[in-house]
Amino acid sequence: MKEKLELILNNATQEINNSQSVQELDDVKLKYLSRKGELNSIKKNLKDLSDEEKRVVGSLANSVSNKLEELISIKNNQLYKKELNRKLEEERIDITLPADYRPHGKVHPLTQTINEITEIFQGLGFSIMPQEDSPEVETEYINFDMLNFPPNHPARDMQDTFYTKTAPNVILRSQTSGAQIRQMLHQAPPIRVISPGRVYRCESVSARKNNLFHQIEGLMVDKDITFADLKGILNEFVRIYFGSARPTRFRASYFPFTEPSAEVDVQCIMCSGKGCRTCSGTGWLEVLGAGMVHANVLRNVGIDTETYSGFAFGMGVERLTMLKYAINDIRLFFNNDMRFLNQF
Ligand code: PHE
Repeated sequence: MKEKLELILNNATQEINNSQSVQELDDVKLKYLSRKGELNSIKKNLKDLSDEEKRVVGSLANSVSNKLEELISIKNNQLYKKELNRKLEEERIDITLPADYRPHGKVHPLTQTINEITEIFQGLGFSIMPQEDSPEVETEYINFDMLNFPPNHPARDMQDTFYTKTAPNVILRSQTSGAQIRQMLHQAPPIRVISPGRVYRCESVSARKNNLFHQIEGLMVDKDITFADLKGILNEFVRIYFGSARPTRFRASYFPFTEPSAEVDVQCIMCSGKGCRTCSGTGWLEVLGAGMVHANVLRNVGIDTETYSGFAFGMGVERLTMLKYAINDIRLFFNNDMRFLNQF
């Protein structure tokens, strides 16, 4: 028995020393020290020995067991530290490495202007018409007929309007004013709405003109609406959009769907006097068209002209953006040159 115990001590010590991982060490511990382990099977056989032998072998077995426990605990400590260090080494992050370059996307300057202007009008009590309520592929009926354009009006001409081949009288809208019709057919007064969106015109492209651009349409219909309300709202808009001290000018003009009609100018923001390239020396810049909704238009949508009146306006988003940021070529908005877009 004594020799057997010494053999166990020797073998176990060797196996402990040879263990390469905490897992391996646990297996050794199981093999020698568990209830079904080799030491226990010797202790079970003690009952067959004499009292004297029992004491000697028993105490020897205990001291072997203690010795092994101690060795295992020391080895376990070493292995644990070793594994921890290896893990830390493997998972180490080099914080001095340069980070990946992830460019941030930006809101397009035209979208910025649309957001800014819609916010201003929301502050003045206008709601925003969802884009899907006023489509870019529109009928001639909405874009022209309902807006009091006579059948032979030059704006309908192939030179100005894109016609589709798929269906007769289906066009790419040449203005957002059709949104007025759609809104009034959809809702009874009082109405106070703006409608931003794309419009198309068959024009040759230049620094000033593109055949795709954006407009924001405005419409207010209620009892007792007068031209003074229109002036008040538009002056307030210009004041907020261009900053406080910018005078405006209302010039008499003509649109088939408004009467009276006006074009609104703001004082040139870049003006260098007589030779100014921005305003051609006039000192004024046209920013929008407006007027009182024509009685024929109200009648077309079944609104009682005795009770109600209204005003409408339409502004060019590109133009307003160009004026605010002194941009001299409309094509810059559509070329997607990052050197341009990054400035906003
Ligand atoms: N639709 C006109 C245009 O495109 C602008 C406008 C809108 C004028 C509303 C008056 C009222 O030029």
